[in-house]
Amino acid sequence: MSQSITIRRPDDWHLHLRDGAMMQTVLPETARHFARAIIMPNLVPPVVTAEDALAYRDRIDAALPDGADFTPLMTLYLTEQTDPDDVQAAFADGLIHAVKLYPAGATTNSQSGVRDFKNVRHVLEKMAEIGLPLCIHGEVTTHDVDIFDREQVFLETVLDPLRRDIPELKVTLEHITTSHGIDYVREASGDIAGTITTHHLMINRNHMLVGGIRPHYYCLPIVKRAEHQKALRAAATSGNPRFFLGTDSAPHLDGAKETACGCAGVFSAPNTMSCLAQVFEEEGALDKLEAFASLNGPARYGLAPNEATITLEKRDAPCTYPAKYDTPDGPLTLFDPGTPLHWHVL
Ligand code: NCD
Ligand code: ZN
Repeated sequence: MSQSITIRRPDDWHLHLRDGAMMQTVLPETARHFARAIIMPNLVPPVVTAEDALAYRDRIDAALPDGADFTPLMTLYLTEQTDPDDVQAAFADGLIHAVKLYPAGATTNSQSGVRDFKNVRHVLEKMAEIGLPLCIHGEVTTHDVDIFDREQVFLETVLDPLRRDIPELKVTLEHITTSHGIDYVREASGDIAGTITTHHLMINRNHMLVGGIRPHYYCLPIVKRAEHQKALRAAATSGNPRFFLGTDSAPHLDGAKETACGCAGVFSAPNTMSCLAQVFEEEGALDKLEAFASLNGPARYGLAPNEATITLEKRDAPCTYPAKYDTPDGPLTLFDPGTPLHWHVL
């Protein structure tokens, strides 16, 4: 007998759509299941000004398949040159929904990120005043901090001081990967929320490193120990409104991943909803899937939840997502959860 669940259409609160040919390939995959997504601005060059965001939004709209019901929610990439008036105007126009903070050097295309917080304080104060959320890649980049500790150290040495300094700032701690990040977001006072990715719910560092190194599981922040994965699963399935889905689906061509120095990013847009249904079922929390994927995010961003719904059905026959997608520039590998998926999106 098949089991099914119907929820409001989900949104993705952290997505890399890229540009050009790659966007043509990946955008329809997100638009198939998701109604909206927070679009990451780490293009080369990055989306820094309102003018950049408007032009990027136009390119996304032009690349959407006919009849697709998808709204890109744009963001600006915070640099030490960002003009607070430009940010304010873009927010007032409804063009942008968040500003993204990358500590310089933290991840893919983050060279233009923030080196000294003193130089962006006036922008953050303006954001606090107008209620514009700051999405944070929460890792320190100092070379003497172990890569597996970079999130925890960021919480103590950067995030907490920053939030004490500007307590009214609305913060989204993105792609949380540790129990420390979960505890911080759960317990902190003030206006804070956190996103969790699909892949961090399904894999830990053993999946990436035992029996061979699997470059398609390499992402930033890097996957941690199983005990952290457990904390992420507990938070995501708890129904706590501070936690919601940000897939961090981040496509890179196979050639850039399967190499001596492969780049970070997991492409999970097509099978995310099947993965999530499986995780929530395993945790005995299918009734919390809608909160995580479709309700908590819009509430946080001051938007109404989607009216449309999607239905997932559990079948004996596993889903048949392609292992790879063809782009004009070469193949792109889909996130492999390492286990058959039985929840089909109808
Ligand atoms: C992202 C990318 O490829 O743009 N990579 C990743 O591993 N998540 C950048 C990011 O969000 O850190
Ligand atoms: Zn990302």
